[in-house]
Formats: sequence, C-alpha cells, structure tokens
Amino acid sequence: MRMPLIAGNWKMNGSLALVEEFGRAFADVSLPVSVEVALMVPFPFLDAAGRALGETSVTVGAQTLSDQPSGAFTGEVSAAMLRECGARLVLVGHSERRTLFGEDDAAVLARVKAALSEELTPVLCVGETLEEREAERTEAVVLGQVEAVFDALDAAERARLVVAYEPVWAIGTGRTASPEQAQAVHAAIRGCLARYDAGLADGMRLLYGGSMKADNAAELLAQPDIDGGLVGGASLKVDDFLAICQSAG
Ligand code: 13P
Repeated sequence: MRMPLIAGNWKMNGSLALVEEFGRAFADVSLPVSVEVALMVPFPFLDAAGRALGETSVTVGAQTLSDQPSGAFTGEVSAAMLRECGARLVLVGHSERRTLFGEDDAAVLARVKAALSEELTPVLCVGETLEEREAERTEAVVLGQVEAVFDALDAAERARLVVAYEPVWAIGTGRTASPEQAQAVHAAIRGCLARYDAGLADGMRLLYGGSMKADNAAELLAQPDIDGGLVGGASLKVDDFLAICQSAG
C-alpha cells in the first residue's frame, strides 16, 4: 500500500508568524496515521519550521536546491545545507522553476541527483501547459519529463523519488483538472514507470497538484492512481490545509 503524502508548497509566501501558527495548529490536532504530511517552506524558514513542527508528524522540505555540492555559486543553497537545516524532501522541477528560471530536463536531473546524494527525497514535478494539452501532447510531454530523469537513475535511486503531476494550466488558476483528467495522466505515469520495473510502479507515490482545495481534495484523492497532493495556495491557510490532510486519511 502506498501511504498518501500531502505536501504544502508555500512558494515565496508566508512568514515566521505563519510557521508558528502551523506549529501550534498541527500540535493540537491528530492527523490520520495513514497520511504523511510535509510542508515545503522558503529556505529562511526551514529551521524555524523544523522546530515549530518538531513535536508533530509533519516533515519539512524545501522548494529547490543547487545542483552543486558547494563553491562559488552566490545565492545558491546545497542539498547538504538543506539537510542540515532539517529538510527531508525537496521539490525539483516545479513548473515555476522550469518556466521562470529556465530549468530544463538536464538541470532537473542534476538537482534530483544532488538531492539523492544527501538523502533528501526529491519530489519530481511534471506537467503540461494548456497549449500542449490542447495539442494533445499531454502524455508525450509529461512522460518525456519523467523519462528524462528516470532513464538516468539506477533502480535503487528511482525508488527513492516521489512524482507530482501538476498541469501548468491548473496551477494558481482555480481551474482544477477533473478527477478523470488527473487519473488518466497518473495512470499513464504509472504505466511508464512499469516499463522500468513493476514493483517501482506499484510503490511510487504520484501526487496531484493544481488548485487542490479542501472542497475538491477528496474526489481527487479517491482516484486509484492519485496518492496525495502538492498544494499551493490552500497550504497557506492552516484550516484549509488541515482539511486536505484529513481528507487523505
Ligand atoms: P496551487 O495549489 O496554488 O494551484 O499551486 C499548485 C502548485 O504549484 C503546488 O506546487
């Protein structure tokens, strides 16, 4: 059985006060034991988030990382630094990184490898634009992004990833993929992973992201190949995020 993972991606939002609010709220509720919850916060909040959530089952993660281990790369943050600040997961290849910061498949792969080298769980983000969907290229684009990384890893490395399907047209737009649309792409991703290894496909957690909210999470999470969510806007409101976590149980 795959344990559902609900990961909040704060993007460049939030504050230390919000970190504290989440820490208090999560200390006061009992999350379903069958759900893993993670919060991907901006770099400067990692340490505080680790402490605020330390007594809870919530793990802390980062939103990107350098592909280099150390050196003269002003402004960059390495995998080892993230680990030292308490991160256990890291998003790689989020569509905002791909489009706004020019990360191509090679850059995404290098970051996945950097994360793995420090025992961080890479959450590999993939997804098509509206234009690509309308041109009926969704599967080609998404599976191409998956293969660009999985082809270059060995079996043990592949098994350590999480994959998040985030249709670009559904991110921050309020326009969610229907459960059927999301399920179809998740099934295609799982089918693609089965070509490497049936056990890999069976065990891989595939998250859906793109305007997941408290009121649509349950029907998305009920799909057989959707094993959790990567939540943007709704992860900034503690009650909404808690409701999504509860609906995964
Ligand atoms: P929204 O939930 O705000 O659409 O963001 C999704 C996302 O990009 C999570 O990584």
